[in-house]
Amino acid sequence: TKRKKERKAGTGLNTADTQRAEIVLKMDGELKKQLDMIHLTEEDLRILTQLEPVICQEIDRIVNSFYQNIMNQDNLLHIIENNSTVERLKGTLKQHIQEMFNGRVDQEYIEKRKRIALIHAKIGLEPKWYMGAFQDLLQQMLHIFENEQMDFPAYRRAVLATTKIFNIEQQIVLD
Ligand code: HEM
Repeated sequence: TKRKKERKAGTGLNTADTQRAEIVLKMDGELKKQLDMIHLTEEDLRILTQLEPVICQEIDRIVNSFYQNIMNQDNLLHIIENNSTVERLKGTLKQHIQEMFNGRVDQEYIEKRKRIALIHAKIGLEPKWYMGAFQDLLQQMLHIFENEQMDFPAYRRAVLATTKIFNIEQQIVLD
């Protein structure tokens, strides 16, 4: 179908896509060092924006299985029930994931993630469960990329950029 073709075109990692989105990588202080250490570059952010359409397309499926996976653990289900509702959390997670692919990592992006990490600490979510949830999310993304028509170099770039944006958030959670 036409829609499917457009979607595929958006993940081809070609130069036409490269020029579209605004890319911002702005950081200083220790976080700049943390980004340097994992070799996160503007090129990675550009690749993430090229993946954004396919992630958006799959976003409902992604958040549904994310919370299914969490609710399979009764300790985590209790944390959710005591603090929020799955419906509300699905909305905030959708936005959160989309921001990972929008080509922008600046002080505001980091501050927001620090606040979210703090919220999780306050509700008693231990980092080990947080990390487990990240891995589930990563595996879902890799699964989505595998189903796209990408050659190996494009797949490799997608995996690297995605693991880097996940890693910086995990660094913040563990800080
Ligand atoms: C809140 C993301 C893991 C439970 C939130 C919010 C975001 C988010 C964006 C909204 C914060 C706000 O209101 O501004 C994530 C991400 C995770 C993760 C990216 C890991 C990849 C988990 C896990 C649990 C959980 C494993 C299991 C219990 C909650 C709860 C809230 C929340 C209960 C609501 C807190 C409150 O409003 O007081 N999360 N989350 N999260 N998350 Fe997570």
